[in-house]
Amino acid sequence: MYVDGTPKTSIWYDPQKPFSFNIIDQRKLPFSFEIIEISSSEDAFLAIKDMWVRGAPLIGVTAAFGMYLAVAENPDSIQSINERAEYLKKARPTAVNLEYGIKRVLDVLQEENTGSRNKEKALDSALKLREEEISRSEKIGDHGLEILKRLYNKKSAARLNILTHCNAGWLACVDYGTALAPIYKAHEAGIPIHVYVDETRPRNQGARLTAWELEKQGISHSVIPDNTGGLLMQKGMVDAVIVGSDRTSIKGDVINKIGTYLKALAAKDNKVPFYVALPTSTIDINMKDAFAEAVIEQRHDDEVRMIEGWTGSHTENVQIIASESPVLNYGFDITPSTLVTGLITEEGLCEANEPSIRKFLNL
Ligand code: MRU
Repeated sequence: MYVDGTPKTSIWYDPQKPFSFNIIDQRKLPFSFEIIEISSSEDAFLAIKDMWVRGAPLIGVTAAFGMYLAVAENPDSIQSINERAEYLKKARPTAVNLEYGIKRVLDVLQEENTGSRNKEKALDSALKLREEEISRSEKIGDHGLEILKRLYNKKSAARLNILTHCNAGWLACVDYGTALAPIYKAHEAGIPIHVYVDETRPRNQGARLTAWELEKQGISHSVIPDNTGGLLMQKGMVDAVIVGSDRTSIKGDVINKIGTYLKALAAKDNKVPFYVALPTSTIDINMKDAFAEAVIEQRHDDEVRMIEGWTGSHTENVQIIASESPVLNYGFDITPSTLVTGLITEEGLCEANEPSIRKFLNL
């Protein structure tokens, strides 16, 4: 997508600097656009763990490039490469794409462990995954566009209103996004669209990242406090909800940013379609029972206790909760498949249930 007229992606490789890759520092947006060159597998680990990058597909691609650096650091030792893989997997537990990105690199090394060519093969694998995620996102956009066109043609009002949660745009992927891809495509197709952006406490990925993305593409939007969506749905102000996913079980239960489930409940109560947009790389075919098996990341208390804001010249953290009050900070929740209208994937629209998902994935 474009930032001030220049095409950008969230992660890229520069052949002039062969033992590194580049990311946008998502902690600084929307106040400052800064690029970080990652030149060690340790920094790749930190980038994922401390959320310099975030969003399921981008976590996967970052992990694949992190594995490339791990191989470059020790190309001849499969043991040390495997140890690095186990280490990287611990960076963030919830998004299945982390394991997927790591496995993609390990698989090509296992095909033929030649030592001298390991580096090259690991890099090729990371670059290929990056390209695949771009293509998957664009196709999600195309399939989602068909749904948005139908919704728009059915209504008499002047604009289509979509509610989204967290950031599932190009920053969370490599380009286009998942939940935002259909919105970008609809905007390009001339459908007047307005997006209600949940601020997404505690880290405010909606308010800080989704709103920034939409503003850069010139798409009409309003940032809303997380508790507002239900009222908007009751008032008929939302035509559809579209969110992303960090891991979707084979049964179609969706693990996504905390607060997603409550939006799905409100959508069901108000007969508002609730779509989840995701690349098939986010479906965990081994997860049968999300409620029993999902590892829900718990993050640092300070994400809730403190808030970061812009003073006009720099960002500052201030405390908003008494030091004596304990906090609880789960990063994700689980939306049961029964609340999901459909999964928008790169292969098309899939029903959120096991037989449909199996058929869809040819399993
Ligand atoms: O904690 P984050 O910011 O990594 O969580 C991201 C989300 O929950 C996104 O909505 C999800 O990864 C889908 S991204 C395309």
